[in-house]
Amino acid sequence: MLPTRVTLVEVGPRDGLQNEARPVATAHKLGLIERLLAAGLTEIEATSFVSPKWVPQMADAADVMAGVPRRPGVRWSVLTPNLRGAEGALAAGADEFVVFAAASEAFSQRNINCSIAESIERFRPVVALARAHGKRVRAAVSCALGCPIQGKVSADAVDDVVQRLIDLGADHIGIADTIGVGTAGQVSRVMERTLRRLPAARISGHFHDTYGQALANIHASLLLGVHIFDASVAGLGGCPYAPGATGNVATEDVVYLLDGMGIETGVNLARLMEASRYICEVLGRPTASRVARALQARPAAQPG
Ligand code: HMG
Ligand code: MG
Repeated sequence: MLPTRVTLVEVGPRDGLQNEARPVATAHKLGLIERLLAAGLTEIEATSFVSPKWVPQMADAADVMAGVPRRPGVRWSVLTPNLRGAEGALAAGADEFVVFAAASEAFSQRNINCSIAESIERFRPVVALARAHGKRVRAAVSCALGCPIQGKVSADAVDDVVQRLIDLGADHIGIADTIGVGTAGQVSRVMERTLRRLPAARISGHFHDTYGQALANIHASLLLGVHIFDASVAGLGGCPYAPGATGNVATEDVVYLLDGMGIETGVNLARLMEASRYICEVLGRPTASRVARALQARPAAQPG
């Protein structure tokens, strides 16, 4: 049975903008966020409390969080790689702390400069702080479908990290295809294994679209009952430590798919296009969303 409703977590302001070569002004990040809210998105990954030496694009994390409009029903998540990040997130009033581990040792070293086991230890005080203040913890599992350094990643390796993150106390697990190489059968196998450990309401898919497989991977996940997905407006993004990987699946593409399948998202595609056009203008480049391109190319409806 397909889900009747899907929750989209908009990661454009974070996963999207962390990878920009040129700095994006805080005011533009807030302009994007405002338009995403207007489109009906209620879960927004706004920024990262990471080292500005590692990811300078997220150096204005506190300013971004100070500027986001607080509204009932909207959840603000931020990346928190260690206690320092979690303290920043707490002070900034984030609702959800996102820790990120990898299913590949090589990528863990490259992205967060420590082993998988060390990363889990670093997350312990993050989870403790979150618990003490009633915040949610989401744990992303990077390279769950392939690694830019080591290549193949086994479903066992993913399952092992998932279990360690559950043991740590994560409320939610995000299965992430960091480099967008996974295909539908592989995604089904990884999701099936994860669903043996957690209900679907505590699992999400985060699919970069490098090989154009993300929508198929979302569909494969939907068939298993997974109903929470990350997406990035205009298909922005990538990871600075995964060169060559393109952005997340475009939010416009996912909304178009789900609208067509009669699955509710609460997101208005026309309003989302306003956010998409805005950020593409700010960045000075065309959208990576196929749906946005098609909608922009469509002749305007003739009056009368
Ligand atoms: P490190 O160099 O091993 O740690 O970095 P450190 O403790 O030695 O800190 C180095 C410097 O950073 C120090 O400053 C710290 O104070 C400072 P210095 O003394 O040299 O002046 N520092 C911090 N500053 C601000 N906020 C902090 C913080 N922590 C330390 N929280 C560390 C370890 C984890 C900090 C670093 O590797 C890091 O920040 N990595 C972040 C990498 C990142 O953001 N990657 C992209 C996001 S993950 C992603 O995109 C994947 C995802 O989308 C899912 C998927 O697609 O796979 C989620
Ligand atoms: Mg990502």
